[in-house]
Parts: sequence; C-alpha cells; structure tokens
Amino acid sequence: MTAPASLSTPWLFTCRHTFEPTLVAELRALQPDIARTRVLAPGLVRADLPPGTPPLSCNPAYALQVLPEATELFAPSIRALAEPVADALRLALDGLDGTWDVHALVPGQLKGNPKPPMRRRADLIRDAVLERLRTTARWALKRRAAGGRQVAVLAQFLLLDEGQLWFAVGPVQPLAVGGTWPATLPAGLADVADDDVAPASSYRKLVEAFACLDRSPGAGELCVDLGACPGGWTRVLLQHGAHVTAVDRAPLAPHLLADPRVTFASADAFAWLPPAPVAWLVSDIIAFPERVGELLAAWLPQRLCANFVVQLKFKGEPDWPAVRAAIAVAQAANYHVLARHFFNDKNELTLMGRRGD
Ligand SMILES: C[S@@+](CC[C@H](N)C(=O)[O-])C[C@H]1O[C@@H](n2cnc3c(N)ncnc32)[C@H](O)[C@@H]1O
Repeated sequence: MTAPASLSTPWLFTCRHTFEPTLVAELRALQPDIARTRVLAPGLVRADLPPGTPPLSCNPAYALQVLPEATELFAPSIRALAEPVADALRLALDGLDGTWDVHALVPGQLKGNPKPPMRRRADLIRDAVLERLRTTARWALKRRAAGGRQVAVLAQFLLLDEGQLWFAVGPVQPLAVGGTWPATLPAGLADVADDDVAPASSYRKLVEAFACLDRSPGAGELCVDLGACPGGWTRVLLQHGAHVTAVDRAPLAPHLLADPRVTFASADAFAWLPPAPVAWLVSDIIAFPERVGELLAAWLPQRLCANFVVQLKFKGEPDWPAVRAAIAVAQAANYHVLARHFFNDKNELTLMGRRGD
C-alpha cells in the first residue's frame, strides 16, 4: 500500500545523470509503498518513503549515494544554513565512539563537473558547520576523519540553491561485500585519475568498483580478466600489483602482453576456467546479460574466485530477470553481492561479489 505523502519522509538518491527514470523505476519496484518521487536536479532523485525505513533496505543498484530521511532547509546566510546541520550532527555524535565526516555536495558535482557552481559556498557552509561544533561539541572535533572511509557517522548536505539545502545525518552501515551504505565517497563518486596510457577508457569502471568496495587486489594476488582486450582492466589490476591471466579472442595491447606479470589466453572466456582458485575474477565481456549468470554458475559453486566484478550489458531497459538470476547464483554459492550503476557505466550494471566464510 502506498503511504500518504504526509506520513512519509523524503530521501535523496544520487545517480548518473540521464539514468534518473531508471532509478525511479527501480525504487518503485523495491519500495512499492513510496508516496512519490521527483527529480530535483540532474542526477538527484527525491523519494518519499515511510518513516523508519532502514537505509540498508533501500540500496538501489542505480543509486550512487543516499541521503536517508533528509531535511530541507531554506535560510539566507551561510551561518543559518550551517547551524541546523551542525546541531543534528552534534546529536548524532553524542555517545559515539567512532569517527565521522561531513560531505558538502553541490548539484554540478553529480554531473562530474570538477569545478561546479556553488562549490565555494558549500565549502564555506561546511567550515561553518565545523566552527559551530567547535563551540557546541569541541570534544567531537578530534574524531573527525576528513575524507575518511572508516566513518561511523556521516553528515551530508547538498546545496541545491544559494539559500536552499538538503541535509541528512546518520550512521554508516558496512556492507558484507565491502564498502558502506551510505557510501563514504562524497556523492558516491570515486576520484578516478586520468590515465593516458590506458588502452581503453573502460578502466574507469573497475577503478570505481574497487573504490566502492573499498577493497582491491593485493600485490601478487592472482586475477583473471575475462574479455580483457585491449587491456584497460588488466592495467588497473597490474597497478594494484596483481598477476593477471587475461582471456580474450582479440589481441591485448603489446605493452601489457610484454609485462611478465601477464599471461594471455586466447580462448572463449565462457569456456575457460582457472586451474586453481584465484583472488579476483573480473569480466567486461560484451554478451547477452543472461550469460553472466551462466558464467558465475561455472565459477562460484566451485569457489574458483574469492571476489568478482562482472559487467551485465543491456540493450534498452535493464534486464532485471538476468540481474536477479546472476545475483541468485552468487547467493546460492554463499557470496555477498552488490549491484551498482557507476558514473562510468554505460547501459550496463556492475555486479560485485565476495565469498562468504
Ligand atoms: C568491452 S571489451 C573489454 C574491454 C576491457 N575491459 C578493457 O578495459 O580494455 C569486451 C571484450 O570482450 C571480448 N569477448 C566477447 N566475447 C568473448 C568470448 N566469448 N570470449 C572471449 N572474449 C570475448 C571481446 O573480444 C572484447 O575484447
């Protein structure tokens, strides 16, 4: 049953701009009792949920970040915008042992603009939040982990206009697969450095997946990259110090082929299996999305990888039956899973997994 708008609480979700309708449709499928949804800005969706909805129960694949139970605020000055945020934060920090952080967000950031309008004003509001805490909760300041990933409480505000912001303050929940919800990356966006040597821009997706998980291959760990060519993902794995078996029927970039840590297998990636379990399976194969479930069914019940990052590519609308089938295969094999549509994902989803104990 749909909750009346008066009995619901606004939540904000960020997503890759142009995927707002996809996120709204997913939210409505996940939470049939949503009172209403609205796109507030490019990459920003408001959904009104029943009060008390636990954040972990609303973690849509197409959302990059969530501001649960958000409050809208109109005020003329930086100080007046900052004080309610600081006061909510002080309440949340009362009795807390862990660390915390503040994310100051602006709409242009959601579109990937490195110098978005209102950035400076948002930073000044964040400074004013900290200044108020200095007078009201000085004890808490030394537990701020600026830019930290291991934070227990997160205050987020999004400056929608000069005198209008939305804020949410609350706990950060660790996910079994890795990472947290809400994400501890501001707006859920990883800082992906430009790499002019990368043979394909698709490397950005894998960088985002590792940032989201807050985990990545360790030095010397064995990784398998299926559909590896020309080698953008293989290069990311090498940058982490991993050893990579790259499987493809097309050729790998020569400089990667020459790397002693790379083994190339010219083979059908759907038929190829490693001789022994590896740390990470990654796959960016272009194929019908239902083939990803088949791929995972070949690997996971045999526990051939400890972790995986695989792409499901769509034509038109997301193929939810294929996504659900792939997730079901992983869960049946006792893997924790998370699906996410990253900023650099095109019409595809990234499915990430970690073997349970
Ligand atoms: C999007 S590209 C991968 C790009 C790669 N991740 C990178 O960063 O450079 C998809 C690759 O999948 C490969 N591929 C598709 N079907 C395959 C199959 N059945 N076996 C092996 N490779 C396959 C294609 O040859 C292509 O190189």
